[in-house]
Amino acid sequence: MDKRPIGFFDSGVGGTSVWQEVVQLLPHEDTIYLADSKHAPYGRKSKERIIELSVKNTEFLLERNCKLIVVPCNTATTNAIKYLRENYDVPFIGIEPAIKPAALNSDTKKVGILATKGTLSSELFNKTQREFAMDVNTIEIVGTGIVELIEAGRKDSPEMRDLLIGITEPFMISGIDYLVLGCSHYPYIKHILAELLPARVRIIDSGVAVARQTMNVLKKHHLLNLSDEKGSHLLYSNLDTQTLESLTSAIENKTVSYLNF
Ligand code: SIN
Repeated sequence: MDKRPIGFFDSGVGGTSVWQEVVQLLPHEDTIYLADSKHAPYGRKSKERIIELSVKNTEFLLERNCKLIVVPCNTATTNAIKYLRENYDVPFIGIEPAIKPAALNSDTKKVGILATKGTLSSELFNKTQREFAMDVNTIEIVGTGIVELIEAGRKDSPEMRDLLIGITEPFMISGIDYLVLGCSHYPYIKHILAELLPARVRIIDSGVAVARQTMNVLKKHHLLNLSDEKGSHLLYSNLDTQTLESLTSAIENKTVSYLNF
């Protein structure tokens, strides 16, 4: 039994899509979520800079006594999680694009992957692709501009729709039947993608898988909070808190604050 909170850090508000899955699966856990929106997007930064920011975020969460850290940011996972695991004692849960289930289940053997430049060019992504997607044709597109619009609270804006019309065009032409969302921000635009793509295309993300993995690792290390009380949640942003507030409005027992870090 361990009542310490679970920590989360992300390049901004996107990781709350994963955080909500964890809160729903583990309702008695306290959590701390750190949205480094000031430095978003991580996807265009160098590996060194992504590691530097990930270290700063990890230390912030460890100073607040977190027992395990979830990194729902694909770019930070693919570039920094190895370094974090080698240098800190707590367990880290990363996120990877759901390439494996898409490749296994695709009938057309054509799978679309939408992710940041930092994720698509990372070693970990290429290794996953070599391991699980050798027999499928992957169509990889960088989602330039999507993170910025979500961070600015404009996920349902006409600009987002126009941007996604251009981004989905190569997926339409290539005949994919699965689209893998390889960025924690993208579940927030899944409804627009579903509208633009043919009905046969299944859109998948990794939120539920990360929540399950978090539960398994907490169990394995005897870190579950076994109390009957509902967990409470502290969310911090180093930019404005409005987008963070609105994306997490479905979750109770939380405080959203601005913090200059
Ligand atoms: C980004 O910061 O570029 C997007 C976050 C992600 O890769 O999940």
